[in-house]
Amino acid sequence: MILKDNKSKKYVKNTFENKIICGETLSVLKKMPANSVQTIITSPSYFLQKEYENKSENFQDYLKNHREIIKESRRVLKKNGAIFWNVAQTVQEGEILPLGAIFYNIFKDLNFFLKNWIIWKFEGGECPRTRLFGRYENVLWLVKNKDEFIFNIDDIRVPTKWLKDKRVRNDGKNPEDFWILDDRKNIDKLNLIKSKLGKYKKLISEKKKDYVNQILMDEITRDIEDQLNDMLETKEKILNKNLQDNIWHINRVVNISKKEKIKHPKTKKAHPCPFPERLIERIIKMSSNKNDLVLDIFSGSGTVMKVANQLNRKWCGIDMDKEYCEIAEIRVKNKN
Ligand SMILES: C[S@@+](CC[C@H](N)C(=O)[O-])C[C@H]1O[C@@H](n2cnc3c(N)ncnc32)[C@H](O)[C@@H]1O
Repeated sequence: MILKDNKSKKYVKNTFENKIICGETLSVLKKMPANSVQTIITSPSYFLQKEYENKSENFQDYLKNHREIIKESRRVLKKNGAIFWNVAQTVQEGEILPLGAIFYNIFKDLNFFLKNWIIWKFEGGECPRTRLFGRYENVLWLVKNKDEFIFNIDDIRVPTKWLKDKRVRNDGKNPEDFWILDDRKNIDKLNLIKSKLGKYKKLISEKKKDYVNQILMDEITRDIEDQLNDMLETKEKILNKNLQDNIWHINRVVNISKKEKIKHPKTKKAHPCPFPERLIERIIKMSSNKNDLVLDIFSGSGTVMKVANQLNRKWCGIDMDKEYCEIAEIRVKNKN
């Protein structure tokens, strides 16, 4: 399943379908035929001196090289194709540089059209001392042709709170462009509520009736009533439903415990920044159909390929690191 990049050949479409290509992105892309890929979902390096980055290039070289990659990406995309470009910010000599804005200008210059600027919110992450915490990333959804693109809204609708409003569709609404993806099981959420109710009971049983305590009780009661009303007005039963309604909350994979990190089985090398699968699932569902080809041009641990495979899409990944390619191969094969 891993294809080593061969410098002398051009690829034909079926050579790279359902393959992980171990090679340098620009050189591989240049050998791919035009108009062959439906969706590219990717996250480049953020120029943060991570282990997999090219340490010898300066920031201007980094942008120049990525511009070439984006240009080739446009060529391999189908006429109605799209690219999802995930970046955060980088830090240069103590100054924050917003990579989303910087790359947007490059995409615009190369004739892409922005459909949405998605904010993906998570917990954890950097802990700087001289500025606020950065707790979100950007996913720029750009299309090759502004009049022709895939948007399977029915596959990604989310529950709406306002079922009584006749203007609102009962099968759900469009997700917002601000994605808080909640991965907790509903039963865990219920247990959390139970434990909070326990604390609430304790407060009631406290005999002293001081002013602050009364305000606190009033606040909590109002909150609980609001939440319960929201929940009870929804159609499905609590256990089948996300209690946060239209909000999904998903944390980054790097926040999970050391034990659960995605590692190479022999060398134990772990990928530092895998995509969360649910983020990718929503993107693949909305931007491609069954049997379409989904490509990640910096595929790392292979999350995009794994999810694309599960959703019956064809897939392809490119990464220059042999061990990451091997991790990806195992993840795609195992389907878990
Ligand atoms: C941010 S990570 C992507 C992680 C991936 N989204 C996942 O789910 O695991 C970037 C990846 O790009 C690869 N990479 C960086 N520059 C590259 C280049 N010029 N050619 C090929 N791969 C490259 C790195 O090895 C790294 O695995």
